[in-house]
Amino acid sequence: MKKALITGITGQDGSYLAEFLLSKGYQVYGLKRRTATPNFENIQHILDKIEIISGDLLDLSSLIEAIRASDPDEVYNLAAQSFVADSWPQAIYTGYATGLGVTNILEAIRLTKPDIRFYQASSSEMFGKVLEIPQKETTPFYPRSPYAVSKVCGHWITVNYRESYGMYTCSGILFNHESPRRGLEFVTRKVTNGVAKIKLGLQKELRLGNLDAKRDWGYAGDYVKAMWLMLQQENPEDYVIATGETHSVRELVEIAFDYVGLDWNKYIVQDPNLMRPAEVDLLLGDPKKAMDKLGWKPEITFENLIKTMIDSDMQKLKAKK
Ligand code: NAP
Ligand code: GDD
Repeated sequence: MKKALITGITGQDGSYLAEFLLSKGYQVYGLKRRTATPNFENIQHILDKIEIISGDLLDLSSLIEAIRASDPDEVYNLAAQSFVADSWPQAIYTGYATGLGVTNILEAIRLTKPDIRFYQASSSEMFGKVLEIPQKETTPFYPRSPYAVSKVCGHWITVNYRESYGMYTCSGILFNHESPRRGLEFVTRKVTNGVAKIKLGLQKELRLGNLDAKRDWGYAGDYVKAMWLMLQQENPEDYVIATGETHSVRELVEIAFDYVGLDWNKYIVQDPNLMRPAEVDLLLGDPKKAMDKLGWKPEITFENLIKTMIDSDMQKLKAKK
């Protein structure tokens, strides 16, 4: 039985990856930092099938202990301060967690079990003010937020440990991916949850920032399969994972309000406070390498993804009511 350690197991991707690895027969361990209130919502349904290990990406000793305790074949580093907007007011913390945290986990692996296969959650945010359309593995980075700068650090240290020590380390450069488990602060979930609340009479308006930004949005359940595939190859490499389609926030809003039969113009309020100090205007990925080499492809369309998220939010809100 293969063993995997997932950092960030309580997050969106951690929960889908844990489910996927369990379905492949893995023994799954999840690193969980201490929090004052419980946040097991995403993994409640599989808690009896996985083992939780206490630890924090900022605490090297805890990472070394986590690797000793789980003795994994594969480590998936998904933990991060992942909300771009908060990376300006928390630039230093984001640098520690999202950037330096990657060096911590790589050091823990190098010192304990260097033949572990390692996956780093890199991000399309690294392309930032894009230098090429579409973006692929060879496109240079131009990060536009403290989050993206930290991810570039995490990306290159992952490449560096591969080249310096011959370790099996891969970076997946994942474009935005969403699901009903997406945090409420990210724009897709903010919209689907807001639309569901408006439809149910629980909210009167939805405040948003930049409606012109474009993203290549996919489904998280599809993307965690690509993470696993990267670690099953003969040689470690980096891959772009994307749908190859881009949509604006405005299109997202239109699709969501249309689905519940409402006119979005009546409910959307543009709030200057939600504009970012520096924006990433357009992300569009080219997943050709992943399709050719990994045999990976996205399964769910953007429109269906948004509809599924609205259905899920409707159900949750009705259950609460
Ligand atoms: P998420 O839902 O925000 O989950 C982040 C996870 O990291 C949570 O489990 C969180 O734990 C944990 N974490 C944060 N700081 C930590 C620390 N210091 N020590 C240990 N754990 C810590 O993020 P996601 O959407 O699943 O994304 C997973 C990874 O992929 C992140 O690295 C993100 O930056 C990257 N990524 C995401 C996307 C996307 O579109 N979703 C695209 C590209 C890259 P708590 O529950 O305690 O907060
Ligand atoms: N969150 C949010 N809230 N975003 C808004 C809003 C709003 O009210 N209004 C407009 N937007 C715009 C943002 O300015 C941005 O251009 C776009 O919607 C997407 O924002 P997010 O959903 O917060 O995601 P992100 O693209 O900044 O970052 C996500 O994707 C990255 C991969 O490209 C995160 O998951 C990152 O962790 C990930 O690396």
